[in-house]
Amino acid sequence: MKIVTSSTELPSGCAFVPTMGALHLGHASLFQKAASLSSEVVASIFVNPLQFEDQEDLAKYPRTPDRDIELAEISGVTHLWLPNQAEIYPGQVTPIKAGPLGSIYEGASRPGHFDGVVTVVRRLFDLVKPKYAIFGEKDFQQLSLVRQVAGDVEIVQSPTVRGDNGIALSSRNMRLSESDMESARVISEALYSAASQVSVAEALRAMRAVLASQDAFKVEYADIVDEVNFAIADEMTPNPRAIIAGWINSVRLIDNMAMRVRA
Ligand code: PAF
Repeated sequence: MKIVTSSTELPSGCAFVPTMGALHLGHASLFQKAASLSSEVVASIFVNPLQFEDQEDLAKYPRTPDRDIELAEISGVTHLWLPNQAEIYPGQVTPIKAGPLGSIYEGASRPGHFDGVVTVVRRLFDLVKPKYAIFGEKDFQQLSLVRQVAGDVEIVQSPTVRGDNGIALSSRNMRLSESDMESARVISEALYSAASQVSVAEALRAMRAVLASQDAFKVEYADIVDEVNFAIADEMTPNPRAIIAGWINSVRLIDNMAMRVRA
């Protein structure tokens, strides 16, 4: 694996996985997916200031460079790109607007966040010129928004990786205590319960009932939406997806799952 600091050293037409570091096995599965698509696998690590509303959150974002390099290397990355701020944002930045989908759910909770995400993703694509870009389903709203700015880059979606306890892997899990982790199980339990129902209405009822059985997880939203535009789903929605966000103490967690019910 080559570690490079300039995009001029990258192979174009690669399979690309953009990250902000703090890599875990969820990222490893994205790298492996990329390796199944191309012999050139580029991963970037860039903690994008534009997607943080709060400078304190940016400063607190976990940085684990040695482990990241090790994980990338054993997971099939051929080029690990560590750009600096000047390469990504030379001069004045004009953010791309994420549009209506960027201001609901995660976007409502984190104003401006998705403008920052689509801006950096477009910029990364312009510099890397990949054939494929791989994104995890864990951040499903991000995935739907990235499709809007993909141009001729083929966006490949990769399933969420879960621990044995059902919890979706996330760099935020590092901030959960053992008992918080126990409480966090309710999120995937609610999603699995929803996914086993035969209608959207039943799925919603089941999901909310499971969440209500647990006090430690403070629900911010728990809905079933159309996975393309995140409009509230009904029985005619072709691709309904359950989405959940909430808090365990000071840690905000999100998760989602495709519903088996199909119109
Ligand atoms: O999902 C992430 O890690 C980030 O939002 C991304 C896509 C790398 C953009 O900074």
